[in-house]
Amino acid sequence: MRIVSGIQPTGNIHIGNYLGAIKQWISLQEKNECVFMIVDLHALTAPYDQKTLQEKITEKLIAYVAAGVDPEKAIIFVQSEVKEHTELAWLLNTICPVGELERMTQYKDKSKKFKDNVNAGLLNYPVLMAADILLYKAEGVPVGKDQAQHVEMTRTLAKKFNSKFGKTFPEPKELMPEFGSKIMSLTDPKKKMSKSDDPKSYISLFDLPEDIEKKIMASETDSGKAVIFNVTKKPGISNLLTIYSILEGKPISAIEKQFKGKGYGDFKKSLAKTVINYLEPFRRKQKELLSREVYVQEILKKGKARAKTMAETTMQEVREKMGLSS
Ligand code: TYM
Repeated sequence: MRIVSGIQPTGNIHIGNYLGAIKQWISLQEKNECVFMIVDLHALTAPYDQKTLQEKITEKLIAYVAAGVDPEKAIIFVQSEVKEHTELAWLLNTICPVGELERMTQYKDKSKKFKDNVNAGLLNYPVLMAADILLYKAEGVPVGKDQAQHVEMTRTLAKKFNSKFGKTFPEPKELMPEFGSKIMSLTDPKKKMSKSDDPKSYISLFDLPEDIEKKIMASETDSGKAVIFNVTKKPGISNLLTIYSILEGKPISAIEKQFKGKGYGDFKKSLAKTVINYLEPFRRKQKELLSREVYVQEILKKGKARAKTMAETTMQEVREKMGLSS
C-alpha cells in the first residue's frame, strides 16, 4: 500500500502527534511504500515567524527520525521543496465547491482562533492536503481523528476528478489507531492536546524527565479518587489511562485493577515513570542527530529527489487528462 502523511513544523511534536500519527508510521513503514513530509506550506496559514521556520523544519525531521521513522525505508522530505504540491492544489481547487470548505471543522475552529488572519489559505488548506495525498496516489493516510474529515474531503475530490477526467487517483482511507486517535490536553481534558497551546498542556517527545513528572502530576483530574475509565464523568483520568495503556501495552481494565484502592497520586507517579522510560531513547537519539547536521540534511535531499520523481509522473498524467500542455 502507498502511505502518505505529514506534520506541520509548528510548536513541539507531542505524545498526541506520536500516538495518533507517528506510531502508526513506524509500523506501516515495514511493509508499505511510505511518504512522510514536513508540511511547511500548511504552517503558513497561521501566524508564524519566517526567521525560525527553517529551524523548526529541521527540528521536525529530527523528531521523526528520533521517534523511529527510518529514512532507509520511508521517503522523508519538505513539502515546499516539491513544487507539484501547489500545482496540483490549484487544479483541485477548480473542482472543489467552496461550501464544502466552509463546513470543515478545522476551518471553523481556526478562523475563530485567528480572527485577525482568516486568510484564503486557511479555507483552502484541505485542498492542499488533498494534493499532498493524491500526488503520490496514496491509499492509506495515517492520522489522528482531527484530520479524518480532511481525508474524507480528499476522497470526495479524488472521486470527482476521476469521474470528470478519467480514473487517475485511488480513493484514500484515513488510518486511525484504535486507541489514541484523540489525546486530550493535560490542563483541559475536554480539549484535544495541541502543539499551539501552552506547553503545560502537552508532553513533548523531548521533554526532560523532571518536566514530564511535573506536567503529569499537575494535570487536571476529576473529582473523586478512583482510577476508572469513564470519558464523560472522568475525562482527565480516562485520558491518562489511555496514554498509560498504549505505552505499557496493557488493557485499561488491567490498569484499573492495578490501581484499585490507590489514589490519583500513585497512578500519576507510575504514569510519569512509564512516559519518562518510553521517551528516553527518543531523547538520546535526538541528541545524537543534533550533532549530525550533514546526515540530517542528506536525508531531506534524498527524500526530495525520490518524492519529486513520483510527483512529476502524476502531474504529467493530470495535466494531460485536464487538457493542459504536458
Ligand atoms: P498536525 O501537524 O496538526 O498534526 C500531525 C498529526 O498528529 C495528529 N494529532 C493528534 N493525534 C492524536 N491526538 C491529538 N491530540 C493530536 N493532535 C494532532 C494529527 O491528526 C496529525 O495526524 N493537516 C495535517 C498535516 C497534513 C497531512 C497532509 C496529514 C498536511 N498534509 C497529508 C496527512 C496527509 C495537520 O495539520 O497535522
